[in-house]
Amino acid sequence: MNLILFGAPGAGKGTQALELAKSYQIPHISTGDMFRQAMAKHTPMGEEAAKYINKGHLVPDDVTIGIVKERLSNSDCQNGFILDGFPRTIFQAESLEILLQELNKKLDYVIQIDVAQDALIQRLTGRRMCKRCGASYHIIHRPSKVEGICDECGSELYIRKDDNLESVQVRLETYLLQTKPLIEYYQKKGCLVTVDGNQDIKKVFADIQCKLGDKK
Ligand code: AP5
Ligand code: MG
Ligand code: ZN
Repeated sequence: MNLILFGAPGAGKGTQALELAKSYQIPHISTGDMFRQAMAKHTPMGEEAAKYINKGHLVPDDVTIGIVKERLSNSDCQNGFILDGFPRTIFQAESLEILLQELNKKLDYVIQIDVAQDALIQRLTGRRMCKRCGASYHIIHRPSKVEGICDECGSELYIRKDDNLESVQVRLETYLLQTKPLIEYYQKKGCLVTVDGNQDIKKVFADIQCKLGDKK
């Protein structure tokens, strides 16, 4: 199954993608995670991306499309993939379409996780992330069992540099201007399914599974 998880910053893309990847045994491909890994290693691409990410702006399309192209060509994507945080512009969506044609793959579903704006700010400013496995926690909605430690892998949790109120506001504006138009784009293609992301994490996951099941 070839999937895109789509939604505003904080909608729960990463949270749901981890569960879907386990359940369907397909790789979770998050452009945000790939950039953060490159930033942690201080690679030239990571240093370039950091200039945009920490302030909440989008990384230029050519850089982003390049890393997705390389990743989707990997043999572990043979039985499917879950894209999280890509595409984020119409240009990226058009480039993905060409890339999938080249790779002889077809997009099955774009799953939109729809969440109210005020909840997004609260989710992002209370988030804690695992340094190693990328699991997301929340100080109120999903606290880890031991404070500051990941339940999944025992690594330390940290606060993302772009989860401060100022960057969050820029990210939400960027989403509205550059990314939200993709809803109509994928609606027209007939592959968009929408779930109510305001519900608790398990219910959102059950709804996604139900939508995917419906369409099989
Ligand atoms: P990226 O890492 O993709 O960030 P994002 O899109 O801003 O989304 P988030 O990761 O913040 O949110 P999420 O939807 O994954 O939510 P999560 O599951 O963690 O991108 C970061 C940056 O990289 C971008 O700003 C840009 O600069 C750059 N970038 C990435 N891709 C790019 C691209 N294609 N083009 C250009 N630039 C790109 O959940 C959030 C919180 O809510 C957590 O605390 C979680 O525990 C909690 N939570 C989740 N679900 C629920 C629920 N149902 N109820 C209550 N709480 C919940
Ligand atoms: Mg994420
Ligand atoms: Zn972890």
